[in-house]
Amino acid sequence: AYVITQPCIGVRDASCVDVCPVDCIHPSSGEPGYEEAEQLFINPDECIDCGACEPACPVTAIFEESAVPDEWKSYIKINADFFNQG
Ligand code: SF4
Ligand code: F3S
Repeated sequence: AYVITQPCIGVRDASCVDVCPVDCIHPSSGEPGYEEAEQLFINPDECIDCGACEPACPVTAIFEESAVPDEWKSYIKINADFFNQG
């Protein structure tokens, strides 16, 4: 799955949402613990690895899971956890 990482924080350009063919990129809608979420998240169970979102992001926040830079590896779990609450 693709993963949204730190550069998205505070930017939330959302161009990625427009190009995703399966609509698996989601903003927070006020879920507990994410009321102030400053980034969007990709649902790893729905992502079909098409790659369309990666070049669409103006701040290069999106990476294929295996290509996430070391300093942002924690975002793999952060994205997955967003869809596994409760
Ligand atoms: Fe959506 Fe494709 Fe990006 Fe996955 S890789 S989040 S399916 S646009
Ligand atoms: Fe964030 Fe880039 Fe999408 S800034 S909302 S990952 S286009």
